[in-house]
Amino acid sequence: MDYPDFLTVIKLSTCDSTNNYIKSHYKSFQHQFPILVTAKNQTRGRGRENRHWFSAHQAGLYSSFGYHLKNKNNLNLLSLISGIAVVYTLRESGEKNFKIKWPNDVLHLGKKVSGILTETIITNGQIISISGIGINVNHNLTDFPEELKSRASSLKMITGKEFDIESIKMILANNFFYWLQQLESNQNEAIIQKLNRLSYFSPGETICIKSYTKEIKGTYESIDDDGGIIIADQEKNRKTYYSGEIQID
Ligand code: BTN
Repeated sequence: MDYPDFLTVIKLSTCDSTNNYIKSHYKSFQHQFPILVTAKNQTRGRGRENRHWFSAHQAGLYSSFGYHLKNKNNLNLLSLISGIAVVYTLRESGEKNFKIKWPNDVLHLGKKVSGILTETIITNGQIISISGIGINVNHNLTDFPEELKSRASSLKMITGKEFDIESIKMILANNFFYWLQQLESNQNEAIIQKLNRLSYFSPGETICIKSYTKEIKGTYESIDDDGGIIIADQEKNRKTYYSGEIQID
């Protein structure tokens, strides 16, 4: 396995955040797109909603893909296809039980193994997308800060084995561009079917979504054609949400 031959790969020893690195250098990089920026260490890894992404030194995978997105209608699906690419990458470990928690987490038995941060820059009528992916690879439980210990896991904790992070990055890069290509060639039906199969939530399950300042309790139905989540409230009114955070205990 190697990186896709069309991909420019930039390997850093350390940076604040691989997403930030692409954001601050995109003007010089965009002629080389698609690019992958990876770092062995991140000093200020970022998560969604201004959260911090715990970036254990040398133990995790920190990668961001920068590319031109052809169709703006696909923006909502970018985090989700990244999630599919992560699930297939993690399955190479031999363990299969990984699920996507809409919209951007990959869990193993309810514990977070990977997070995805998708960001977009619109410039001169072009859409530049940055798909940042963090995977907990060789972490031991003791590496995580106290507040994450009950909610996070790593490939090593799941399988009892250490992994070569460089090989995982190559597998991830191939999977990511396979699913991006599926999206750009309008294979949305196949993508949505896959997402519904890989969803952490089961239809009929009661969930609570926090969207902006509101908290809505309802029943999970499915992922819709545009990547939104369909939730029915107590009166059985269905509503699709395109952003938000679903709480799990
Ligand atoms: C989340 O769970 O809220 C998203 C976490 C995304 C973390 C990755 S690590 C590589 C890239 N660089 C960052 O600063 N964040 C993403």
